[in-house]
Amino acid sequence: MLRRLHHTQPDSFAFTAANLKWAEAQIAKYPEGRQASAVIPLLWRAQEQEGWLTRPAIEAVGDMLGMAHIRVLEVATFYFMYQLQPVGSVAHIQVCGTTTCMICGAEDLISICRELIAPNAHELSADGKFSWEEVECLGACTNAPMVQIGKDFYEDLTADKFRAIMATLANGEVPLPGPQNGRYAAEPLSGLTSLTDFESGRARYNASVDRAVAFGDTIKRIQGDEVPILKSRTKAVPKPAEAKAKPATRAKPASDAPATTKEAVAKSAFGQADSGKPKDIKPAMLKSARDTGADDLKRIKGVGPKLETLLNSLGVWHFDQIAGWSSEEIAWVDENLTGFRGRVSRDDWQAQAKILASGGETEFSRKVKKGGVY
Ligand code: FES
Repeated sequence: MLRRLHHTQPDSFAFTAANLKWAEAQIAKYPEGRQASAVIPLLWRAQEQEGWLTRPAIEAVGDMLGMAHIRVLEVATFYFMYQLQPVGSVAHIQVCGTTTCMICGAEDLISICRELIAPNAHELSADGKFSWEEVECLGACTNAPMVQIGKDFYEDLTADKFRAIMATLANGEVPLPGPQNGRYAAEPLSGLTSLTDFESGRARYNASVDRAVAFGDTIKRIQGDEVPILKSRTKAVPKPAEAKAKPATRAKPASDAPATTKEAVAKSAFGQADSGKPKDIKPAMLKSARDTGADDLKRIKGVGPKLETLLNSLGVWHFDQIAGWSSEEIAWVDENLTGFRGRVSRDDWQAQAKILASGGETEFSRKVKKGGVY
């Protein structure tokens, strides 16, 4: 495909103050004389800021890095991730058209793009809000067909579900990314056949969706001073009753009633709406350790120095606190261990904490005592 600069260009480009600071920090990572190594991240940030890569942006990046403009243009035209023409002000839809997605319905999705957005790829919709293109495999073949919208994947699509996603975006909302058929991640539709205990300790969303919900930057232009939303992820999507009362800023996936027994099994096993997860309740926390001093929480298998610091910052200092948590309280802590989510359940802290709180030792805590754990 011939990739060249768009015929209509703005007069100038400038990074926002925050993005400029970020760009300078990227450049500083490289030794003197190797500043050109920062070309890809800087071009990417310019695109994140503007939506597409303009000629002035390419030239500005070249000037910042001491590169000839033609060298930066070579990079920008080589990589398809750079958009060389204006994209929709709301969203640019990238439809995977490679084999797996194609045989699972990508052509229907492309037809919808032609119908709702514009007849040809890289053309803006009449209102300027949307654009689309067909891309090569995005690596989510198990969940075919799929599209990438902004930074996130929308998987397991049907024509109707894709239309619903487009309607949600047109309505000013961001649809919930991830599988759109009730699957949790990329497990078989008929249900897990191994690691079946995973379901009880899992987070509400799979890791990719979880991050997407946490950052909330699916289709945002990046000015550089955004504070990630990082809200309590369990509460990121209103529950059905709440959704009726007030409009959601992030919509739930379009989900039809399961059509087959297989789908019904999958839905009850992996459905996001009916996960069977306990409701979260924040346990009682302490402002600081009791006068007797904090317990060494690292004697619990799965708790390292970082996690111990995080637990202390939440108000957890003693084994008996952990030992007394209810399943609802464990769910709350699991959700709030940023970077370590699900650890309480995964390593069964409660069982360990009960033994340690009563003065006993576990096999692991004995090893810690002997200095056998680093
Ligand atoms: S073929 Fe579409 S994600 Fe791989």
